[in-house]
Amino acid sequence: MNRIFSGVQPTGNLHLGNYLGAVRNWVRLQDQYECLFCMVDMHAITVWQEPGQLRQHTREVAAAMLAAGVDAKKNVLFVQSQNPNHAELAWIFNCVARIGWLNRMTQFKEKAGKNRENASVGLYAYPNLMSADILVYKATHVPVGEDQKQHLELARDTAQKFNADYGLEVFPLPEPLILGAATRVMSLRDGSKKMSKSDESDYSRINMTDDADMIDLKLRKAKTDPLPLPESPAELEGRPEAANLLGIWAALADIGRDEAVARFAGQQFSAFKKELTELAVATLGPINAEMKRYLADPAEIDAILAQGAQRARALSAPVMAEVQDIVGFLKASG
Ligand code: TYM
Repeated sequence: MNRIFSGVQPTGNLHLGNYLGAVRNWVRLQDQYECLFCMVDMHAITVWQEPGQLRQHTREVAAAMLAAGVDAKKNVLFVQSQNPNHAELAWIFNCVARIGWLNRMTQFKEKAGKNRENASVGLYAYPNLMSADILVYKATHVPVGEDQKQHLELARDTAQKFNADYGLEVFPLPEPLILGAATRVMSLRDGSKKMSKSDESDYSRINMTDDADMIDLKLRKAKTDPLPLPESPAELEGRPEAANLLGIWAALADIGRDEAVARFAGQQFSAFKKELTELAVATLGPINAEMKRYLADPAEIDAILAQGAQRARALSAPVMAEVQDIVGFLKASG
């Protein structure tokens, strides 16, 4: 059986990278797979989150997913902390995954920066919780952006080691699904940096809550180079900003990047940016309006998420019981 799990951290508003790299693909996959989509608030607190903001961002991210077309009846849409099985399996995986594996994780190195000694233990063990998110449902496929590839390799290694240690085929080895022309959307200010919620400059990203004027302003200010747009894909070499903006256009238009290059070959950035703005506004505008409608009724969002959590718990409970038994935990009697 094929089952999808994917998650997003409610550490701020979703941006265009989250949308093109992940959420839009989820909407497309929901007709082919049984899907669980999760706001991973326990991952979020691996770095400091102001409690009131965390709650607000969790609702906002849920609203963005619903507005983007994630069907909460068909799929399981829920908040990670509302299913304690994630934390429980993560602990077991802390005892399966090796320190050497975690030491290789580039995201930890990037996020901890120079002051590693002062990073939370949670930030270090983050990938084990992510493996647990996926494997507590025995999910087989995980649609993500390119930046999560290394974490998924670790999830596969952990599943494999657990199976080998206990001599049983308990967990599937989950496959990443990295789809579309924008699997790694870069910052609008610096084509060598990933578009990210944590970038200090809001001009580095397009948020899913940005209105048409803001999208226009950010794209007009987006960094470019002095040359006209390239005549061929090979000429994108060494032009990260051009590559990024053409990749965004291609993803929004749902075509390959090479086709986008052919379409704008030799044009000036100013003309191209106008078309890009129109396309971005046409795509994000309706989502934005829907999101506002959902956010006007937070109780409704909470109810949808509570139902999702109930379904998630029902799906993970038998897996958790199986794992506890395999590991040798004594069953609580009575
Ligand atoms: P997060 O919250 O950073 O991002 C959510 C999703 O958006 C994708 N993404 C991008 N795609 C393209 N370009 C970008 N600039 C960009 N930025 C983010 C991410 O790849 C991701 O798919 N660790 C995960 C959350 C997580 C998870 C999981 C994912 C926790 N448990 C289990 C899958 C399965 C994260 O921090 O995503």
